[in-house]
Amino acid sequence: SELNTLATALGWKYFGSATDNPELTDTAYVAILSDNGMFGQITPGNSMKWDATEPERGTFTFSGGDAIASLAEGNGQLLRGHNCVWYNQLPSWVSSGGFDAATLTSIIQTHCSTVVGHYKGQIYSWDVVNEPFNDDGTWRTDVFFNTLGEDYVGIALEAASGADPAAKLYINEYNIESAGAKQTALLNLVQSLQSAGTPLDGIGFQCHFIVGEVPTDLQASLEKFTALGLEVAITELDIRMTLPSTDALLAQQKTDYESVIAACRAVSGCVGTTIWDYTDKYSWVPSTFSGQGAACPWDENLVTKPAFDGIVSALS
Ligand code: G3I
Repeated sequence: SELNTLATALGWKYFGSATDNPELTDTAYVAILSDNGMFGQITPGNSMKWDATEPERGTFTFSGGDAIASLAEGNGQLLRGHNCVWYNQLPSWVSSGGFDAATLTSIIQTHCSTVVGHYKGQIYSWDVVNEPFNDDGTWRTDVFFNTLGEDYVGIALEAASGADPAAKLYINEYNIESAGAKQTALLNLVQSLQSAGTPLDGIGFQCHFIVGEVPTDLQASLEKFTALGLEVAITELDIRMTLPSTDALLAQQKTDYESVIAACRAVSGCVGTTIWDYTDKYSWVPSTFSGQGAACPWDENLVTKPAFDGIVSALS
C-alpha cells in the first residue's frame, strides 16, 4: 500500500509531500521521500520563496530550489513551485516598501518571470499567489496590496504565465476549507480574475487542520471552485493535536486523514494531495503552536502512524 500508487490508480495526478533542504542530509528520511510509489510529487517548504530566491533586488539565487528540483527529477516526481508572491518570508528590500505602483509592478513581474522561468518545464504547478486574504475575508494589507490594491494578483499571474505557459497557476490559501467570509472572498476574486481574462488554473486548499475539527463541508467547498472551471488540490495537509498524543487522539487523527482524502477523491477536479512533510520529525507545527504537534502520518522515528492507514483506506 503505497500512497502515490494508490492515488494515481484513482486518476489523481499525484500523492506528495513537502520537504526542505536541511532535511536532505537525513538518508533514512530521503529514502522514504524518494520512493515514487509512495510520493509522486514534492514541494519545497522554503527554498523557492522570495527571501531565498531574490535576497537582493535583481540578484537571484537558486541553489536551494535547484537541489529540490533535481531530487524530484531524479526520483521521477512532479514538482510544485512554492511560491512567487506572499506577504511572509520577504526580503526586507521588498517588505519595507516605499515603491510607487509602477516600480512595484516591475519588481513583481521581474521576480515572478525570473523564478518561474528558471524552472520552466520542471514544474507541474506554481503557487503564484499565496494567502492573499485575512480570515475575515478582507485583503491582507501587505506591501503588495497597499501599493497596488488587488491588481497585484493579476500582475503576478500574467508574469508567471508568460514565463512557463505549461505550468498550472494556482492561488494557495488556508481557512477556505469551510464556507465563510474568507472562502467567499476567494470565490469572488476567482470570478473577477476570470472576467478579466487573467490566467488561473487552480486553487490550493492548504488544510492545516486540528484533530477532530476537519470541516464537514470540505468536499462542498472544493466543488465550489471546480464549478468555476478550476482544478483544486490539497496542498499542505497536516492535522495537529495537543501533546502528548494518545491512542484516542491517534485514532481520531486516522479518521480525520481519511475524511480529507475521501473529500478530494469525491471531487473529479481534485488532482492530488500533498502532506506538509510526511514525518513529525520535520513538521513546522511544534515551533509555531506551543504544546501541539504529531500532525503528520509518520512519527518522529519515520514509522507510519494510524493516520497513514486512514489515507490508505480512503485511497483503496
Ligand atoms: O533560514 C533561517 C535560518 O537562517 C535561521 O538560523 C533560523 C532560526 O530560526 O531560521 C531560519 O528560517 C526559518 C525558515 O522556516 C527556514 O527554515 C524560519 O525561522 C521559520 O519561521 C520558517 O518556517 C517556515 C514557515 O513557512 C514560515 O512562514 C516553515 O519551515 C514552512 O514549513 C512554513 O510553510 C508555510 C507555507 O509556506 C505557507 N502555508 C503555511 C505553511 C506553514 O506555516
